[in-house]
Amino acid sequence: MVKTNRIKDKIYQIKVIDTEATHFHGCIFPTREGASYNCYLVVDEQITLIDVIDTMYFDLVLKEIKNIIGDQDIDNIIINHVEPDHSGGYEMLKRVYPNAASYTSATGKRAMQHQFFGDHTYTKVATKDTLNIGEYTLSFFETPLVHWPDNMWTYIECEQMLFTNDAFGQLIVDDAVYDNEVGVEKVLDFSREYYANILLPGNVSVKSSLLRFLDLGWTVRKVLPSHGVIVRTHINEMFAQYRDFVNVKLKKKAVIVYETVWGSSRKMANVYADKLSEKGYEVKVYQLSESRISEVITELSDAELIVVGTGNYNNCLLPTVADFMERLKAAKLANRKALVFGSYGWAKVHLKRVQERLEEANIEVLADPFYVMYVPDDESITLLESQIDGMTL
Ligand code: FEO
Repeated sequence: MVKTNRIKDKIYQIKVIDTEATHFHGCIFPTREGASYNCYLVVDEQITLIDVIDTMYFDLVLKEIKNIIGDQDIDNIIINHVEPDHSGGYEMLKRVYPNAASYTSATGKRAMQHQFFGDHTYTKVATKDTLNIGEYTLSFFETPLVHWPDNMWTYIECEQMLFTNDAFGQLIVDDAVYDNEVGVEKVLDFSREYYANILLPGNVSVKSSLLRFLDLGWTVRKVLPSHGVIVRTHINEMFAQYRDFVNVKLKKKAVIVYETVWGSSRKMANVYADKLSEKGYEVKVYQLSESRISEVITELSDAELIVVGTGNYNNCLLPTVADFMERLKAAKLANRKALVFGSYGWAKVHLKRVQERLEEANIEVLADPFYVMYVPDDESITLLESQIDGMTL
C-alpha cells in the first residue's frame, strides 16, 4: 500500500507500507509486522525529491508523484543514502525525469557509480553545503556509517525539519504519519529494534555524527526518517534514547540463547534462567529455531551477559547456533561477558568452537563451557546450579 501525506503546504511524504515483507534488507532481518519506506517530495520553485525508493515499489511511488505534480518535472533528487531501499529506483526515476540533478555525498557519488553504471552526473555535497530551491534552502549534513559510509541528512531550516534516512527509523507498519498517533512506547520500541539491528554496528560513528550535529546548533522540530513515522511530539524521548544507545548503557540482564535436538540444552537453559534470576538478572531465553533473530539481537543490545548453549552436530555447531555466532560478530556486540553450555554424546569439540567464536567477537567467556553427556540427570543439574551459585558475575 502507498499513501501520500501532506506534511506542510509544499512538503509531501510518500509512504510505502508493506505488510507482507517478512524480512528487511534481503533475507537478513525477519520483521515483526512488515516494513515501511518513506520518501519526501518538496514542491517548491524547483521540485525536489528527497530519497527515491526500492525498485519493487517504484511504480506505486511514481503514481503518487504524478498525482502531486502532474506533468511537471522533478528538478532535483537528493540521495541521502545509496542503499537500494532508498535509491534502487534511481535509474527508473531518471528515465522519467532525465533532467533532474542529483545530489549526494562524496562517498555516495562513488557508490552510486558502482551501483548504477549509467552515465549519470552527481553533484557532491558536504556538511553545511546548501541548495536553494525557491522558498526553501536545503542544508546537508554527512553522517558516515549511519548506516553506510555514504549516509547524509538533509535539513530545511525554516521548517526545522531534518530528513534523517535510516537514523531514527522504525519499521512501524501503520498508516499513521506522526509518532503521537501510534504512541511513544511503540515508537521507541520499534526504534530500539531498528537501531540494534541496523545502526548498532556503527555505534561509534552514530555517536560522532550526533555530537557533530549538536555542535551545529540546528534546531529540529520534526525528524523525518525514511522508515516509519515522523517524530515530532516525542522528539526529546527519541533523542534521549539515541543518547543511551550511543553511550552503550548495559543492564544487569542475561540473554540465554540455545538450540537443542532432543531437549538436553533446554533443560540446562532453564537452570541458567532460574539461577541468574536469583542473582538479580533480568533474563530472556530464546530457543533460536523458535525465535525471531531480530528480537534476539535487540535484547542482546543492552544485556551484559550472553549465555549460549548447543548440542553437537557431527562435531559442529547446530546450524541455528552457527548462524547466531556469525550474527553476533556482525552486530559488533563487543564488551559483553558470556557463558557456554551444552550436551554431547561422544565428542565435545562444539562448545570449544562456541567459545572461540565468542572470543573472536571480543566477548569475554567467564568460565570453561559446562558439558553434560547425553541428558542432564539430577546430579548434573545440581552441579550446574552450584557452579552458577558460585560464580561472581
Ligand atoms: Fe534503509 Fe541503510 O537502508
